[in-house]
Amino acid sequence: MEVRLARKYGFCFGVEDAIETARRALNANAPGKVVSLGPVIHNRQVVENLQRAGLDQSGDLKTLAEGSTVLIRSHGVGPDVYEQAKQRNIQIIDATCVLVKRAQSVVRQLHEEGYRVVMIGDKNHPEVQGVIGYAPDVIVVDMDDDLDAKLPLRAKLGIVAQTTHAPEHVANMIGLIARRPFRELKVVNTLCLEVVRRQEAAIELARQVDVMFVLGGLHSANTQELARLCREEGVATYHLETWEAFEPGMVQGAKVAGITAGASTPDFVVTEFADKLSTYEPAP
Ligand code: F3S
Repeated sequence: MEVRLARKYGFCFGVEDAIETARRALNANAPGKVVSLGPVIHNRQVVENLQRAGLDQSGDLKTLAEGSTVLIRSHGVGPDVYEQAKQRNIQIIDATCVLVKRAQSVVRQLHEEGYRVVMIGDKNHPEVQGVIGYAPDVIVVDMDDDLDAKLPLRAKLGIVAQTTHAPEHVANMIGLIARRPFRELKVVNTLCLEVVRRQEAAIELARQVDVMFVLGGLHSANTQELARLCREEGVATYHLETWEAFEPGMVQGAKVAGITAGASTPDFVVTEFADKLSTYEPAP
């Protein structure tokens, strides 16, 4: 069948840097064992490759021995982690994405300027859990209902967003916040353009095809978002990790399939999927 790829998909520079940093750490005879505080990225294939290369990704700072080396992944961590590591003589290799670092310093700055910081994001996402550590009492909101429940009235609010959120969602939330009584609003754009470009390319492709495949980790927030945006275009959309999850019924009656992939999906996953799908003959 005819297969079209999105004009922008797959690894972003933050993820590439994190994987490269992890590989360098493993080859560099870092002191003690190298342990990552959780999976380096939200992609099973990459995580398994790094595991085989010797990287322990089940790290918990509390159980690490003095003198070990800890890898901070691209999502970043709160300032307490740096402090604890310093106190316990644990060496840090920092692979926090530069854009996440920027969001962390924006939060600190907004607090220093006297704003009550509001972060539009998923409170369970590791990036958000790290960023909110850079100011006291940061309020995390992600849905309309959160606003009434969490936002103070007539306050001076400083707003940032999770880097991987869709601009439309963030703009909608800012609009809803602005409808409420507030003294001052300051919005700092912390969105990642790498994500925005992948989202635009996915929507563009979804409008041209009969079925869309969004490839990448099922827990990857930016990959889930790509799938949501494609579905919003009204096209049948499947979020799969790899070709193994493909089923013939997904392309029944389709002539043209589109493929995109999240910022943590390696190229080999996309290439394998595209090669196999292009030689596949769907049932009419
Ligand atoms: Fe960084 Fe954007 Fe990738 S925030 S980790 S470059 S998706």
